[in-house]
Amino acid sequence: MSIVIDHLRNEPLLEAKNLVREFQVSKGGAFAGTETFRAVDDVSLAMHAGRTMALVGESGSGKSTTARMIAKLLDVTSGAMFFEGEDVTKASDASLRRFRANVQVVFQDPFSSLNPKHTVDRIITAPLDYQGFKGVDRRLLVKNLLERVGLNPDHSGRYPSQFSGGQAQRIGIARALAVEPKLVICDEAVSALDVSVQAQVINLLRELQQESGYAYLFIAHDLAVVRQIADDVAVMNKGKLVEQGTTAEVFDNPVQAYTQALLSAVPVINPEWEIRRQENMGRMAQ
Ligand SMILES: Nc1ncnc2c1ncn2[C@@H]1O[C@H](COP(=O)(O)OP(=O)(O)OP(=O)(O)O)[C@@H](O)[C@H]1O
Ligand SMILES: [Mg+2]
Repeated sequence: MSIVIDHLRNEPLLEAKNLVREFQVSKGGAFAGTETFRAVDDVSLAMHAGRTMALVGESGSGKSTTARMIAKLLDVTSGAMFFEGEDVTKASDASLRRFRANVQVVFQDPFSSLNPKHTVDRIITAPLDYQGFKGVDRRLLVKNLLERVGLNPDHSGRYPSQFSGGQAQRIGIARALAVEPKLVICDEAVSALDVSVQAQVINLLRELQQESGYAYLFIAHDLAVVRQIADDVAVMNKGKLVEQGTTAEVFDNPVQAYTQALLSAVPVINPEWEIRRQENMGRMAQ
């Protein structure tokens, strides 16, 4: 029996295998046309219940693209995804809906990800409608969620603009938790916050994890934050995963020169990649 339990415990909640994402980008210059740009190149990651996996790497290394594929907000070019052992790479509508309840995302800018015209209770309960949750006492749910994320439950009728940045991010977290997910992806979720507020939100995420066993995929630029929150770290460079291990392993004994440079806070000089990234950003903006 205990062998079975151990096996279940060790089984990844979500496993991404050999993820690749390519974009067709228009070629610059006089000869118009498109070329293929590989933003994520053969990335495999496993996330476990109750653990936090940090994804780090310089800007443009493919962290958000990887996260968006894992959340199924973006199709994979190739690769496979398994959730609790079930192949969800090409999920049917019904299992995709279930998957979306299980995997929630908290974005960087709380204000742009919360509809300014909607009250907090409407924002928090919106994912329930998509999920078709019925028979839920919504008032009680909103009250409980606001309490869990450290907000005043009497403020559920207020609008996002009536909250501070840190409070707004707590609303974003409450919305993510409303559908009882198992994996929460935080893409730079604390990056826009002041340092003291950032620490409070990190503590909140930790407490919530201890209470409910969420797995987190945590993307952050700030490696001090990563060290605080992450159990495991995966390092990306130019779309590839270059190093992966426990936080202690990666921080105390980085194997790759790229990781060493990243950790020593020396700017990684990679002009070719930076030029490519800026070109792509320019094209995307057009
Ligand atoms: N829709 C798109 N079309 C073309 N290129 C894209 C698209 N989305 C992302 N890219 C490119 O893919 C690369 C990886 O982008 P991504 O946003 O995943 O990086 P990131 O590691 O999250 O960076 P940051 O730390 O700045 O958020 C970049 O070069 C980016 O320009
Ligand atoms: Mg990003």
